[in-house]
Amino acid sequence: MLKDKNILLGVTGGIAAYKAPGIVSLLRKKGANVKVIMTKAACEFVTPLTFQTMSNNIVHTEMFNQLSNMDVEHISLAKWADLIIIAPASANTIAKMANGIADNMLSTVLLAARSKILVAPAMNTFMLNNVATVENLNTLRQRGVTILDTQSDVLACGDEGSGKMLEPKEIVDEIDTALTKKDLLGKRFVITSGPTVEKVDPVRYISNHSSGKMGYALANAAVKRGAEVVLISGPTSLQKPHVKKVIDIETTLDMYNAVEEEFNSCDVLIKAAAPADYRPKTYSEEKIKKDGKTDFESIELVPNPDIAKHFGNLKKNQILVGFAAESHNEIEYAKGKLKKKNLDMIVVNNIKREGAGFKSDTNIASIINAAGEVDSLEIMTKEELAEEILNRIVKLF
Ligand code: PMT
Repeated sequence: MLKDKNILLGVTGGIAAYKAPGIVSLLRKKGANVKVIMTKAACEFVTPLTFQTMSNNIVHTEMFNQLSNMDVEHISLAKWADLIIIAPASANTIAKMANGIADNMLSTVLLAARSKILVAPAMNTFMLNNVATVENLNTLRQRGVTILDTQSDVLACGDEGSGKMLEPKEIVDEIDTALTKKDLLGKRFVITSGPTVEKVDPVRYISNHSSGKMGYALANAAVKRGAEVVLISGPTSLQKPHVKKVIDIETTLDMYNAVEEEFNSCDVLIKAAAPADYRPKTYSEEKIKKDGKTDFESIELVPNPDIAKHFGNLKKNQILVGFAAESHNEIEYAKGKLKKKNLDMIVVNNIKREGAGFKSDTNIASIINAAGEVDSLEIMTKEELAEEILNRIVKLF
């Protein structure tokens, strides 16, 4: 979503300025064009050369000495930007914005701006909670400016509390969200993700290699596009996305019960999880010993419910998207699952291909629609694949 977008980064004076080059780097990796304006105070913390090198553009620091192409620089910068982000935003710059003061390049551009503005405050916790700053931030919110949260931590000054700037990745996610078309607004998604774990005894279990990355990418992308998302997640080490609700589960039966709770009120169910098809018939409360007295050479298994198939048969207006993890004949097997489970779409990945399937950050998938038409996609990140899947879901509404 950030590809070819014009992002203007305003950097003000504060120790968090050292993190701002990270924002430029991430934005450029996502294909955005970045220009930077620094206040005089910001230049005390990081040099303009750093931003110039990272953005591949001239850095603007002064009002009057950088007229290029006879442009009125502050107006052309304001017009150029699809979005302006101030990070870090000092109490001083926030106060200027709230009061319409234009006494340097950044505050002047802000006064001329018509694009969306995001502010990432960074300051001492007492400055942040000072009634003047609180009122200034409220004024900006009322004018449509998005004020990002701060983190609570031990601050550079040694005080503890809120006021630490968000990390560059979180800021770039916020920029991405702000620029994303909200074409899933009002839609409720239930997304299953990750592995399930079927315990044998207090030590051992049956599971699979799913990391949850595919399901989490879908959850993040759907939220960004305005959907309300319930994420039903098997055990993973991933950071929980900012969704309406996360339901942590362990077993396939847990996952089945969680989907049952949510199914009637959802518009879309995406089954990106890899639930175990079988579970041990019995669970041993004590660790099974290798002493010859207990039989540990075979574990009797019983089938788990096929969640996608069950809800495929029950669905009314819901869109049901399944995945298929295959190691060969993937299209043929996936078409079989599409029919058998009454899915509206299936995303098939051959887990033996390099860069596809479990754990990797990328995937190579074919998307098959209800009519059996196959769309084979190139290798892409799981985030990009999530967008491709959502684009097709939007067309089904
Ligand atoms: O989590 P990652 O590391 O990012 O890896 C992503 C992934 C490989 C797990 C994902 O891309 C994927 O392919 N998920 C489906 C894995 C799977 O269980 O495939 P399957 O072919 O066994 O099942 C077909 C469909 O039925 C799936 O939508 C599955 O969620 C569902 N199913 C399967 C078994 C079961 N008991 N109930 C189900 O609902």
